[in-house]
Amino acid sequence: MSRFSFRTDFSRTPNPLAEALARHRGLPPLDLTVSNPTRVGLPAPDAGLLHPPGALDYAPEALGLPSAREAVAAHLSSRGPVISPGHLVLSASTSESYSWLFKLLCEPGDDVLVPAPCYPLFEHLARLEGVGTRPYRLPLAHGFGLDAGAVEAALGPRTRAVLVVNPGNPTGHFLHEGELAALADVCARHGLALLCDEVFSDYGWGVEPHRVASVAGRELPMLTFSLSGLSKVCGLPGLKLGWTHVGGPPAARDEALARLEWVADTYLSVGTPVQLALPALLAHAPVFQEALLERVRGHRRRLVAARPPGAPWDVVPAHGGWSAVVRIPREPGDEATCLALLDAGVLAQPGYFYDFDSGAFLVLSLLPPPEVFSAALGPLTRVLGAAE
Ligand SMILES: Cc1ncc(COP(=O)(O)O)c(C=O)c1O
Repeated sequence: MSRFSFRTDFSRTPNPLAEALARHRGLPPLDLTVSNPTRVGLPAPDAGLLHPPGALDYAPEALGLPSAREAVAAHLSSRGPVISPGHLVLSASTSESYSWLFKLLCEPGDDVLVPAPCYPLFEHLARLEGVGTRPYRLPLAHGFGLDAGAVEAALGPRTRAVLVVNPGNPTGHFLHEGELAALADVCARHGLALLCDEVFSDYGWGVEPHRVASVAGRELPMLTFSLSGLSKVCGLPGLKLGWTHVGGPPAARDEALARLEWVADTYLSVGTPVQLALPALLAHAPVFQEALLERVRGHRRRLVAARPPGAPWDVVPAHGGWSAVVRIPREPGDEATCLALLDAGVLAQPGYFYDFDSGAFLVLSLLPPPEVFSAALGPLTRVLGAAE
């Protein structure tokens, strides 16, 4: 048998829900797990944008074409402090940005702190770089907000960075000013970098006091990386373009940028056509974002209104993102409830996919077309009510 690396030794055993879905016969279920924004009837930009002249050349600047970085800087500056294009690094996706940052910050065997519950991306990305992850819990009692004490308690001797997802996926909690100040203190005292995932930061559902929309351009005492990209900002995951803003103490920031330029130059992974089209694609973002926000706000209102008084389930309070988290009875629990929902024709995700630990939860996508979401509410409330 050939030898393969431990880093790629992932479990490939399908979970019980995937097995039940493969066995499912009859009409396809009403899908409340959809995450691809191009499949749900939201506005898309003109596909002709992707054929500008010069599109087949290697882009000469490893950190990204000046016109593309200027467009990202203008996009970010319209939401917060003025951002310099010189502090931005383009990559082929946010996922790739993470792998570059792990190479930049960690030796093999080092680790990074990751939030729990959270979208289960980081463990895999870190492991592929030979880097470990250590979870810090986001307390339910705190609305799944950040508890700097839990971050500090999770530190190990080889921890190099803290990851924060703002707002959380799927919890929809935005970082607050007080939480950021306490986190900055922990990072500064322990020499940790902050990696702040802001892919959903344009999707706040309402106004909220003390909300931190982005850490980009703020004066913080530690190296700070804010990550986002086209897959959520414009709903265009297939175009493959992400960005990282680098901030923090100027000497460390400039060293990080110089090293990232070397990493980016080694791969030259960002396509030239999408870089050339970026200013026009970002100009389309408000049209997409407005339509998406109207959809997710409406679905969430309908979900909350569908709960009968006294029902044994609740929609967990949240302030943004593309999902709803529903707290359900511990018995029969999240997996059994998802299997019962599938029998009733609705596909939903169990909370354990996201490492919830303080009860049983379902995660529902708020992206589906209105007719799909509305049709799913009847079976959903019937199955959840039956747990009484
Ligand atoms: C919180 C979070 N970060 C990053 C990503 C990955 O984004 P990209 O498509 O830019 O790699 C996702 C994808 O859903 C996500 O939910």
